[in-house]
Amino acid sequence: MSQAHKNYFETAYRTGSDVWSHIDYQKTALTMLPHLDRGSLVLDVGSGRGLWMMTLVRLGYKVIGIDYIPLIVERVNTTIKYEGLSSEARSLVGDVLDIPLADGSFDVVTDIGLMQHLDQADWPLYVRELHRTLKSGGYVLNVSFSRHTRSFLGFDARRATSGLFEKFGLHYYFFTEQEIKDIFGVEFRVIDQRIRYFDTRNDPDDGLALVFTLLQKK
Ligand SMILES: C[S@@+](CC[C@H](N)C(=O)[O-])C[C@H]1O[C@@H](n2cnc3c(N)ncnc32)[C@H](O)[C@@H]1O
Repeated sequence: MSQAHKNYFETAYRTGSDVWSHIDYQKTALTMLPHLDRGSLVLDVGSGRGLWMMTLVRLGYKVIGIDYIPLIVERVNTTIKYEGLSSEARSLVGDVLDIPLADGSFDVVTDIGLMQHLDQADWPLYVRELHRTLKSGGYVLNVSFSRHTRSFLGFDARRATSGLFEKFGLHYYFFTEQEIKDIFGVEFRVIDQRIRYFDTRNDPDDGLALVFTLLQKK
């Protein structure tokens, strides 16, 4: 499944059909970020075009993004260099299930739309990797597809018996609030959780809901 996913994301970035990059999640995500000192270290997993990374840099944080698509990582690094931000930000090729970074490095890990594409069997490893790379007391901001979604590519997540949905070779999971809490488990405490509704550029009938969760490593 993973290679099919990589092909999907690679093609989307190459052809500019990465509709998710333009979903207007940033305002809500910003209001949920914990207050951190300037220079705090943030890891953005599944960083894609790096738009969220750049927002974090403007807030005064040092940011590392990882994504498993080399094409988009190179583009983000070209932009970082062009903007003269090489000491504030860097993008790396890497898999969130084997993050190529040291233990206890980050004040915050952000995930905007990656976890929803993982196999359910990989959720525990994903959480272990976020836990490992975070400092003690560090935060996770997770933004994922929500089961409150009315319509996404014709899928009504509210009425489905499971959050799992597959289309065009890509696997999606639409989470309940409780599922997110359970996935992160006893090693994290939930600080804040919100549902927000968005349009997408897939289809004028789409009614996408995202679940925003801020957690803290205990
Ligand atoms: C829906 S996109 C979101 C991109 C970006 N965070 C944004 O909000 O625009 C998901 C991203 O996660 C990346 N991704 C998916 N699975 C991954 C994995 N196992 N390790 C690293 N990156 C992954 C994809 O390449 C893609 O860029």
